[in-house]
Formats: sequence, C-alpha cells, structure tokens
Amino acid sequence: MPDSQTASVAPRAWSIEQIPFDRIEHERIAGEDTWFYVLAAASFVESLADLYTHNLLDHMAGDSEASEWLRDRWEPEELQHGRALRRYVETVWPAFDWQAAFDGFCADYRPYCKTELLEPTRALEMVARCVVETGTSGLYGLLQQISPEPVLTVLVSHIRNDEVGHYKYFYHAFLRYRELERPSRWQVARVIRQRLAEIGQEDAYLALKNAYAVRNPGHPFSLDDFQRFQRIAGHWARAHYPYEMTVKMLVKPLRLPGVVNRLALPLLVHRARRVVAP
Ligand SMILES: [Fe+2]
Ligand SMILES: [Fe+2]
Repeated sequence: MPDSQTASVAPRAWSIEQIPFDRIEHERIAGEDTWFYVLAAASFVESLADLYTHNLLDHMAGDSEASEWLRDRWEPEELQHGRALRRYVETVWPAFDWQAAFDGFCADYRPYCKTELLEPTRALEMVARCVVETGTSGLYGLLQQISPEPVLTVLVSHIRNDEVGHYKYFYHAFLRYRELERPSRWQVARVIRQRLAEIGQEDAYLALKNAYAVRNPGHPFSLDDFQRFQRIAGHWARAHYPYEMTVKMLVKPLRLPGVVNRLALPLLVHRARRVVAP
C-alpha cells in the first residue's frame, strides 16, 4: 500500500446502476436470516455517512484538499454503499420496511455522533479514521469470502475496494498532519486501541436492534439475541476474516521500524484472531 496518494478525484470505479439486482439468485440467500441482519445493519450504518461527513468537514475546516476529497469522494461513495445495500435487502426481503427500521436506528444512534467525540488533533483523528476504514475493509473482505450469492459477492467486493481506498486517503492525510503535529507513537497507539474497542459496539447493536424490531413486531431485541448473532459472526470470522491485512493496516500509522514490524506481526495476527473470533 503506498504511503501517500494525491487527493485527485479520479472517476469512480463502479456505480449502483451496474449491479444486476435483477439477476440475484434469491434461493441462495432469502432464507439466510443472519445475512438479512448483517446486510440491513450495514446499510443503516453506511446511510448515515452524511452525518459523519459534516462532523469531519467541521474538524478539517480550512484544509481544502481534505474537504474536497470528503465532499466529492468519501461521502458519495459511503452513501452509495448504503443505497446499494438497501436495494439488495429490499430486493431479497421485500416485506421488510427498511425506512421504518432506518428511522429507528437514526433516532437511537445520532446522539453518539457529536463533533466533540472526534479526536483533539487532526493527525489523531486521521488515525481514528484509518481504524474505522480498516474495520469496514475487513468486514466486507470477510463478506466477499463467504457470500452465498453471486450478485452480493460483486457488490461487497466493490464496497471493500472503496473502503481500502478510504483508508489510503486517511493514511495520506495522517502523514501530512503528522509532520505538523508530531503525535507520539504512544498517542497514536492509544487512539488505535480505543477505536478498536469501540468498533461494532453501539452502531452494530443499535442497527441490529432496529432491524430486528421491524422484522419481528412485538418481540423486543434482547441481549441474548445480540449474543447469538455475535456467536454466528465469530464463527464466520474464525475461518475467513482477513486478519493479516487488517493487522497490517492497523499498525501502519505507528510507523514501526521494519524489523519490529516483522517480529510483531505474527503475534498481533494471532491475537487478532482471538479477539475477533474467541
Ligand atoms: Fe462504506
Ligand atoms: Fe469507508
């Protein structure tokens, strides 16, 4: 992965119109409950990108390169992820009232997305963004590996490639601000650790809760349901999660000397396996 890249806005790699939703092989996925919840939850989180973009645009005010990239590239791509996943869910599970569940998710989740939750400096916020994009790259990389349905495989591989592109831009922006702000390795490590601990916490829980509530009227989503879901996800991840890529992306902002990196990587990959799929 290159250390830097320009912010130039190249043509997008794919668009929702190219996804052959009419060729979905319904019998391969329509009965798969876990897939329904994973895809619905992902579509909700992606569809909130406008909110994240505004928070970040505030944080990066005056940086025209980052602002242009966030507005012209990042936000449209994230929103397209949300639209495409929504369309997939609505095509396969037409009885599901996506909008009602999304509205519930927004009401629950918006309080967690305030600007003051961003990191205090831009370099550190870019590290936090790298962690988030590492998480999404890993998630869609996993879904691409285990997708039971060919149109879904195409869709999640496009999304996964976009997420890796987002990581690359945020890493490039981190390098720019690192020169100015000189964060210590410990500060960077703290942000990585903290963000890792937060990944998939309230957003995943609230997205699943709202999808469940709309799909199962009268049956409130319980902690047992969430834990059952986590067990299945852990089972999927055990065999197919892209651990090595994920760990490499995570530790990259630490800019460890090559030899330390080579020594630490196998240990970290081992640990990551135990954390993701204990
Ligand atoms: Fe995305
Ligand atoms: Fe992304």
